[in-house]
Amino acid sequence: MSEQDSSEGAPKTGGGAPDDPSRRRMLKVGIGVLGGGVAAVCAVPAIGFVGFPLTHEVTSSGDGFLTVGKRSQFSAEAPVKVDLYASRRDAWTRVDSVKVGSAWVLEHEGKLVAYSTTCPHLGCAVDFDGNDSVFKCPCHRSEFKLDGVAASGPSPRPLDTLEIREEEGLVAIRFQRFRQGIAEKVEV
Ligand code: FES
Repeated sequence: MSEQDSSEGAPKTGGGAPDDPSRRRMLKVGIGVLGGGVAAVCAVPAIGFVGFPLTHEVTSSGDGFLTVGKRSQFSAEAPVKVDLYASRRDAWTRVDSVKVGSAWVLEHEGKLVAYSTTCPHLGCAVDFDGNDSVFKCPCHRSEFKLDGVAASGPSPRPLDTLEIREEEGLVAIRFQRFRQGIAEKVEV
């Protein structure tokens, strides 16, 4: 009997026999790809969650307001520079009372105001000159009046105001950072 004759009685499967090695290989590859896809879908958010502290520095202070002193410390006579402290979480480490920035606080036209000490031009620390009663940036000589308006120099906008509130004789400031070198006040 020839080879052709012996296969004549075999059942037709329409896509190869169940134990066809190439079909089994295809099945294995398909299962592997499917399994890999499911694992990736689960792993991406998990990796993002675990890796978040590596790429993000988180500064927290409850509702965002940081107490800077008693109301009686501030007046219209001269701005007072205050430092802002908060908790900072950075790559799974939490550190309390870290200095996150500074502000100038003064009473202007009967209202308490706070300005970020960061120059809106390129971020240098703005000083106050008591003789001329102006804020001065030492880097490129921008000057700002007591109301924060830029009087001279390259600063593209006034000093950045920070939210301020008084409660039970204490003053608190909400710390924010803003983009530098642009005319608009945009938080970063
Ligand atoms: S950084 Fe202040 S004027 Fe340039």
